[in-house]
Amino acid sequence: MPTTILAIESSCDETAVAILRHDRGRVDVLASEISSQIDIHREFGGVVPELASRNHSLHLRPLIEIALEDAGVSISEIDAFGATAGPGLASSLLVGNTTAKSLAIATGKPFISVNHMEGHLLSPFLGQEELTSNLALIVSGGHTMLIHMKDFGDYTLLGSTRDDAAGEAYDKVGKMLGLPYPGGPEIEKQARNGSATAFKFPRSMMKDGLHFSFSGLKTAVLYQLGKLDPEHGAAPADAIPDLCASFQQAVIDVLVHKALLAAEQCGERLITLSGGVSCNLALRAAMQKACDESGRKLLIAAPALSTDNAAMIAFVALHSHLRGHCSSFHEDIDPNLQLVAAG
Ligand code: KG4
Ligand code: ZN
Repeated sequence: MPTTILAIESSCDETAVAILRHDRGRVDVLASEISSQIDIHREFGGVVPELASRNHSLHLRPLIEIALEDAGVSISEIDAFGATAGPGLASSLLVGNTTAKSLAIATGKPFISVNHMEGHLLSPFLGQEELTSNLALIVSGGHTMLIHMKDFGDYTLLGSTRDDAAGEAYDKVGKMLGLPYPGGPEIEKQARNGSATAFKFPRSMMKDGLHFSFSGLKTAVLYQLGKLDPEHGAAPADAIPDLCASFQQAVIDVLVHKALLAAEQCGERLITLSGGVSCNLALRAAMQKACDESGRKLLIAAPALSTDNAAMIAFVALHSHLRGHCSSFHEDIDPNLQLVAAG
C-alpha cells in the first residue's frame, strides 16, 4: 500500500508545503511548494519574527491547495500530516504546526512532529534507495553540526559551533560589506571575481577537535574594513570581491578539514552535506575534492532541498510513520528543540 505524507515547514522565513509518496521502497516528491519571504525581510536586513508569522498565516492555506493540486491528490488521501516543531522562531513554528495538527484532527489521521535539523540531516537521502550510516555536516543559518548518523534516529553529535553558525557568519559579514540579505548567496557571487588569498583571515580552532568558531573570523573581517577605510569602516567597492573570496575560503577550509577529520575518527566512508550553506558551489567542490582524495563518497541534496523546504520535513515524517511512530496533539513546538544532546 502506498503511503502519502503532507508536511509543513514554517520555522523561519520560508512557508513550505510538500507531499511525498512512498510506494514499494520508492519515495517520490509529488509536490514541494515554497513561498519565500526574503524580499519582505530584506529591507530590514534580517528576519522580523512578527512579519514572518503573519506571512506564514497568509500563504499557508493557498500553498496547501496548490500542493494538493500539483500532487493530484485529495486531502482524504493523505495518510499522515507532519510539521516542523523546532528549532526556529516560536510564532512562525506555531502557524505551520497548528495547521498540520488541525488537518490531522479534521481528517482523523496521525500527526508527526519533526525536528527541522533532522530534515536537513536526511535531505541528502531524498531520491536514494535507503538511509545508510554516514558522517553528516549540517551547515545552516542557525547551526553548524558534525553528526555521526548510524541509522534513522541514531545520531551522535561530534561537534558544533561555539558561537556563530557558518550561515550566520556569511549573513553577518554580508551585512558588514553592505550586501543584501541573506549574505550567503551574495558573498558566493562576489567571491567568484575575487582572490581567496588577498586577505589573511583566521581558520579558527583548526587544531581543536571537532568544534567550530566563526565569530573570530567575522571580527577579523571587521578589523580589515577598519584598515581599508579608517574613517567609516565601510568596504571599498573594489575590495569586496577579494574580501568575500578570502572570507569564504577561510570558512570552507575549516568545514572541509573538520568533516574529513570527523569521518576518519568515526570510520565513515560516506560524508553527507546539508543545510542552506551547502548550496555554495565552492564548498561543494572543495568537499568533493577532499572526498575524492581520501577515497570517500559525498552525498549532497539538490540545492532546492538544501535551503529550507517541506520535502525534507515530509521525508522525516515518512520514516517515522513507516516505523509506526506518531506524535501527540499536545506535543508543543520548541524554539530550541535539540536533535541530539551535546556530547
Ligand atoms: O538551511 P537554511 O535555509 O535555513 C536555516 O535552517 O537556517 O540556511 C540558510 C542559510 C543562510 O545563512 C544563508 O545565507 C545560507 O544558508 N546560504 C548560503 C548560500 N545559500 C544560502 N551560504 C553560502 N553560500 C550560499 N550559496
Ligand atoms: Zn534550515
